[in-house]
Amino acid sequence: MASKTNYGAFYHAFRDISKLVHSGKTLREVLQRVVWKSTEVLNAKGALLRVLNPASNQFEVAAAYGLGELYLSKGPVSTEKIVSDLNGPDRVVVIEDIWKAPRVEYPQAAWDEGVRMMLDVPLTLEEQIIGIIRIYLSEHRNFCEEEKSFMVYIAEQSACAINQVRFIENQRVRYDQLALQTEKMSALGRLAAGIAHEINNPLAGILLFSTNLRKKVQEQGPLKEGLDVIIREAIRCKTIIQELLEFSRNREPRMVPSDINEIIKKALSILENEFRLQRIQVSKNLTTQIEKISLDENQVEQVLVNILLNAIQATPGQGKITVKSDMNSKRNIVKVVISDTGCGIAPQHLSKIFEPFFSTKEKGTGLGLAVSYGIVKNHQGNIEVASQPGKGACFTITFPRHKESSQGKTR
Ligand SMILES: Nc1ncnc2c1ncn2[C@@H]1O[C@H](COP(=O)(O)OP(=O)(O)OP(=O)(O)O)[C@@H](O)[C@H]1O
Ligand SMILES: [Mg+2]
Repeated sequence: MASKTNYGAFYHAFRDISKLVHSGKTLREVLQRVVWKSTEVLNAKGALLRVLNPASNQFEVAAAYGLGELYLSKGPVSTEKIVSDLNGPDRVVVIEDIWKAPRVEYPQAAWDEGVRMMLDVPLTLEEQIIGIIRIYLSEHRNFCEEEKSFMVYIAEQSACAINQVRFIENQRVRYDQLALQTEKMSALGRLAAGIAHEINNPLAGILLFSTNLRKKVQEQGPLKEGLDVIIREAIRCKTIIQELLEFSRNREPRMVPSDINEIIKKALSILENEFRLQRIQVSKNLTTQIEKISLDENQVEQVLVNILLNAIQATPGQGKITVKSDMNSKRNIVKVVISDTGCGIAPQHLSKIFEPFFSTKEKGTGLGLAVSYGIVKNHQGNIEVASQPGKGACFTITFPRHKESSQGKTR
């Protein structure tokens, strides 16, 4: 049977599907319309749309029309078979003989269903085949170029719909992760504040009485050494408690108009010796466009020192640390980026490094980043990390640039 081109039907089906793609309908609805309209316009028996599941690397049925349950209950199709000979210039594969085509996985079942001929059209996204539409015909016939082009356009629309949904899904997962992280950090903050508060008073007592006792015992006496240990450890606890309080945002920052570049330079000069000892190359790329913004200089310096110290500890001899500052007037933010060429952070640790007491170091307390996180949040800022294990880590800190605090250009 020869085909008769029905441009009107092609056009209406195409418009119908494109409208659905852009109307925010669910992917299921769009793909269901694709198989229905394709079957109708091509006068076919039915159509099946399979989408590649990246996890299993198999093409799974996403929508079907005009086919019996028995045929549909056949298992998924292997990637190799379906993708073979799809890469040629002619993107539509016409299967004249379903018994001889290796890409037809279940020819007997298709034959029993009354299928005599098939048409395969891949769904491609950035050169990758992400799905396939198969058209089933109950008799042999010729396909003209317009019909094949129509199917290629429909496949493009379907790929676009799948891409859109995947993008939204990715954004949603990222948002959920961020919301969970924020919730977790604020719960930890409350817990830390509670513990710090409870321990602070008894600790002050221990420190006071042990220091008094220490003054009374003889320099060479047997009690001296023990008391020194008590005092030293109590002071260590006090520092930890102080850091915990900082993380839990109990200490309000003392905001003054500040030049972030000056704070960066101060933090770098504090660590100058460390850089030299470890033979680390430091590269500074500070913007000249900076304006003064409201910051607690000491606290921000502490954040930068904490992050730089981590970078030093992660960077074996002769590594490189880069510090950049930037002002984004459009987004009204000031940004500091600290990157290193160190060992990087394992993907499973990325969501944990800001939690108090998370450390992969033998002698680490795991408070450096937790405290930094608390300080930055207290400034209504943000701190983010990206890392490629083995290649390094990159911390981006942003501070809001409140208009009223701008004191004019510093240089
Ligand atoms: N630049 C970096 N490169 C690789 N890993 C890093 C980097 N910065 C942080 N980390 C990881 O994050 C963890 C937590 O860092 P954090 O500064 O909070 O604690 P710490 O350095 O282990 O101890 P301390 O309390 O002494 O700072 C580190 O133990 C390390 O695993
Ligand atoms: Mg640290």
